[in-house]
Amino acid sequence: MTSITKADVEVHLCQFIDPHHGVDLVSAKSVKSIVVEGEAVSVKLELGYPAKTYLDTLKADVEQHLKTLAGISSASVDVTVKIVSHAVQQALKPHPQIRNIIAVASGKGGVGKSTTSVNLALALAAEGASVGILDADIYGPSIPTMLGLSGFPDSEDKKTMMPKVAYGIQTMSIGYLVEADQAMIWRGPMVTNALQQLLRDTNWKDLDYLIIDLPPGTGDIQLTLAQQIPVSGAVIVTTPQDIALIDAQRGLGMFAKVNVPVLGIVENMSVHICSECGHEEAIFGTGGGAVMAEANKVDFLGELPLDMAIRINADSGKPTVVADPNGRATQIYQKIARTTAAKLALKAKDFSSKFPNIVIQAN
Ligand SMILES: Nc1ncnc2c1ncn2[C@@H]1O[C@H](COP(=O)(O)OP(=O)(O)OP(=O)(O)O)[C@@H](O)[C@H]1O
Ligand SMILES: [Mg+2]
Ligand SMILES: [Zn+2]
Repeated sequence: MTSITKADVEVHLCQFIDPHHGVDLVSAKSVKSIVVEGEAVSVKLELGYPAKTYLDTLKADVEQHLKTLAGISSASVDVTVKIVSHAVQQALKPHPQIRNIIAVASGKGGVGKSTTSVNLALALAAEGASVGILDADIYGPSIPTMLGLSGFPDSEDKKTMMPKVAYGIQTMSIGYLVEADQAMIWRGPMVTNALQQLLRDTNWKDLDYLIIDLPPGTGDIQLTLAQQIPVSGAVIVTTPQDIALIDAQRGLGMFAKVNVPVLGIVENMSVHICSECGHEEAIFGTGGGAVMAEANKVDFLGELPLDMAIRINADSGKPTVVADPNGRATQIYQKIARTTAAKLALKAKDFSSKFPNIVIQAN
């Protein structure tokens, strides 16, 4: 009998689809090593996205898959995670303390960007990543309330601000710095400066991901983000109503123009869950986000129900992912978080920091 080779195992692993990447382990470059000894195989996998709550399942599933290969009787799989920086807009360089900035945007207001942003940030943290959130809504900051934070940030050197921390997440918002109604009168350049300062003058510490919660629409703040802030990917939030979907398409176009990859679409408030009896009703219809994703050739990251508990948790300063860590909505947020990070992991890596500085010297 001919024995199994490394190449046979690799071919076999091409048939295992990682549900977060949506592609097989080999194409996703997750396979680091394969060792075959007789009928025993051991495989080392390395994921580019945080997946603490999924690693055991992946390990068991891949071991099971390997054992279906004729000639293999035992399999052991080892999975590690390594999160690296991905490419940003051509004219920009990644922030030295932030491996990846992910913008959360929508065309229309009130679709749940901020709620999705905080829960996504907390979900990435629950999956093992080091995470921050920057509230880019200069006119109507909502991150402080959603995370139960207030008061002026500390400064150790009187030049930079320490991020305020809640549930292990580093945060910054104009809401810590000015009274609620003060920023409302600011115009273009002031708003642009405010956003850049919030990013630049905050002492972010070693973040895998910084989530930027954008205001609605495509105004000055979005323009600043697109042109001056090094973003590796964007997430678009929509609701099932058609009009919101059309608006979201405008959001898609904005990122396409500056070559920031859209990692996918999240459909929010899709199915209504009755708080009395738990029965589900698709008030606005379903599947709009998935159809829009398909039509625009971007990924569909998942859908959140319209659930009163999500609003109550956000209003009380303890978002669903931390208020109800084992609940159904939290599981959805965590799957969306893993998928978002996994889609980013498939994108081009950043090599700018690896190139030596080229100095031209006259002889
Ligand atoms: N899935 C959900 N189920 C129930 N309520 C939700 C859900 N998502 C968001 N909400 C609620 O809807 C309202 C709007 O949400 P949010 O502030 O996150 O939207 P936004 O898109 O950030 O709004 P804006 O455009 O004003 O920044 C909030 O009261 C929030 O608690
Ligand atoms: Mg908001
Ligand atoms: Zn009911």
